[in-house]
Amino acid sequence: EKAGYDYFMLKEIAEQPKAVADTLLGRIDASGRLTLDEVRIDAHALREIDKIVIVACGTAFHAGMIAKYAIEHWTRIPCETELASEFRYRDPILDPRTLVVAISQSGETMDTLMALRHAREQGSKVLAICNTNGSTIPRESDAVLYTHAGPEVAVASTKAFLTQLVACYLVALYLGQVRGTKWGDEVSSVVRELSDIAKQVDQVLETMEPVRELARSLKDKNTVLFLGRHVGYPVALEGALKLKELAYMHAEGFAAGELKHGPIALVEDDLPVVVVVPSPRGRSVLHDKIVSNIQEIRARGARTIVIAEEGDETVVPYADHLIRIPATPTLLQPLVATVPLQVFACELATARGNEVDQPRNLAKSVTVE
Ligand code: M6R
Repeated sequence: EKAGYDYFMLKEIAEQPKAVADTLLGRIDASGRLTLDEVRIDAHALREIDKIVIVACGTAFHAGMIAKYAIEHWTRIPCETELASEFRYRDPILDPRTLVVAISQSGETMDTLMALRHAREQGSKVLAICNTNGSTIPRESDAVLYTHAGPEVAVASTKAFLTQLVACYLVALYLGQVRGTKWGDEVSSVVRELSDIAKQVDQVLETMEPVRELARSLKDKNTVLFLGRHVGYPVALEGALKLKELAYMHAEGFAAGELKHGPIALVEDDLPVVVVVPSPRGRSVLHDKIVSNIQEIRARGARTIVIAEEGDETVVPYADHLIRIPATPTLLQPLVATVPLQVFACELATARGNEVDQPRNLAKSVTVE
């Protein structure tokens, strides 16, 4: 059932273009309109929402962090993303005009389930983004948007993450459509690029050999740091989480802007630091800032592993290793930028002799609080 792959994780990484395409299927029509009638929250209720709260754990939480950037930008509805395990215990402010979005691959994560129960008790509507038909979280929610990743067996989440992102983008764009957005032209072009994104994910997968080689060369390192800004920040957190889970290495993700507020003290000679560089188009200020961050850490001896768009030449002089990803709109970049980090962690785990599909101490679905 591993279809010739050594591990389910490798198979699931390879299945990502299809998972992404399947999750988009039938949800964008030929004219670029989003058709999410299946979600069954009526347009009137969606127009009344004045706040969105996303709750999730682990990798799904990282998808939720990225969703916040997309939702606030395209819809101007205030959105916060919170770890499900923290949410319920701090007496959050919720009412019927709050839409709570619960993201879960398994649909059985107890922390997320308890958070959504709490939200419904306060009168909020809950939309589940879930990969498992008929599981508890969608059953207990007011509405559900299924991701179509297919069964994910490896404990480390890969294809489910990409499809969670797709579902979040669809929700954000749909809300923009229902409520009106001032970014009409940008939204139409993003919808077009999103419809085609599976090809770019495929393109990334075809260029992963140097990433594997790099991973193997780092197998005796103790620490790897990950930096990103904007949507690259949750991508950095996801890269670090994958490495902890699979390679049992100390890995930390930081918002690049926070470097000078502390983490830069960690940088020492030959420390591998992965940097996710935002697209230079559209957000050039952010791009320039991260390029200076790369210079700063390199000047202090870091071994820089730079993930940057094709054609972005500004990073070349400061990259000890350069991983190219296709150009995408800024908000969609996590769909391509995360893939090399998955491959990197999987290969490091293998090189360190770890069990890839069943990392120690972890379960695929965490059904206790
Ligand atoms: O099934 P869920 O999406 O609710 O699971 C949430 C987390 O437990 C999960 O994403 C976990 O962090 C993964 N092992 C990460 O690879």
